[in-house]
Amino acid sequence: MDLTSSQLAALDRDGYLLLENRFSAKEVELINDRLPSLFAENHPGNIVEQSSGAVRTMMGLHLRDDLFARVVRHPRLIGPALQILREPAYVQQVKVNVKAAFSGEIWQWHYDFATHKEEDGVPKPLALNLHIFLDDVTEFNGPLYFIPGSHKFGEHGAFKDVETTSYQLWVCDQERVKKLIEAHGLVAAKGAKGTMLIFHDTMVHGSPNNMSPWDRAIFSLLLNPVSNAFQKQTRPDYKHQRDLTPIEMLPDDCLNVLPVVE
Ligand code: SIN
Ligand code: MN
Repeated sequence: MDLTSSQLAALDRDGYLLLENRFSAKEVELINDRLPSLFAENHPGNIVEQSSGAVRTMMGLHLRDDLFARVVRHPRLIGPALQILREPAYVQQVKVNVKAAFSGEIWQWHYDFATHKEEDGVPKPLALNLHIFLDDVTEFNGPLYFIPGSHKFGEHGAFKDVETTSYQLWVCDQERVKKLIEAHGLVAAKGAKGTMLIFHDTMVHGSPNNMSPWDRAIFSLLLNPVSNAFQKQTRPDYKHQRDLTPIEMLPDDCLNVLPVVE
C-alpha cells in the first residue's frame, strides 16, 4: 500500500503523516495481547517511570516476541518507509511507549536525530519513526505534540537531559522551541487505535504526561538506511540494534497467522 503523491507531499511539508485505520481492531488486539507477559519480564529493555514504577517503554521487542518480529516486517508499516528511503534499511529500534493511565510521564521537547547522532554516531538524519497507535490517542492521554515543518531546519541544538525522566534523552533548548512554535504552531497527533504515524528524524516533538484514566500505548519502529548506519556502539543493543540485515516485507496477513507449534 504505497503512499500517494499528496501524502508524500504532506509528509515532506509537515514532517509527519497520520494514516487512519491502517491496522484493524483484530490486529491491534493481537499486538496488545502480547504486552502483559512482556511487561512482566525482567529485561533491561523494560524501563520504568521515575515516580510510579509503571513501565515507561519496552525495547527490543522484535527479538523478545515472535509477533513483534512480524510487526517490524509488516508491509503496511514498512512499505511506506522503504518507498520514501528508496534504499535498504535496518531495524534501528523497536519499542512500545506505554504512557500508562494516571502515571505516564512526559517526553521532553526533542528531535530523535540528536540522540542518534550523539549517542550512536549516525551520520545523517535519515531514519524514519513509524508508529502504530495501540490505544485511542486523544488530547487527554498524552499524545505526541509536533511543531509542523520543524524538520526542515536540520539540527536544532540539543543537550543531554539525564534528570527529567528515567530515559536519558538529548533535548531541545526551550528558547529554540518557543521560537519554532511561535513561527509554526503546534499539533497533537491524535487518532483511533490502528492509526499509523510516520515522522522525520529532525522533527521537533514531545508529549505531556497522562493524567487521564486511559492508557496510551504506542508501538514505534525506527528504520535507518544501511548506508547511514551507526558509527558508535556505546548504548545497549535494545536502544540501537546492530544487525544491519536489510528488512524484508512479509505478506499483508502476517499478523493473523498463528506461529507453528512443533
Ligand atoms: C518519543 O519521542 O520517542 C516518544 C514520545 C511518546 O511516546 O510520547
Ligand atoms: Mn522521539
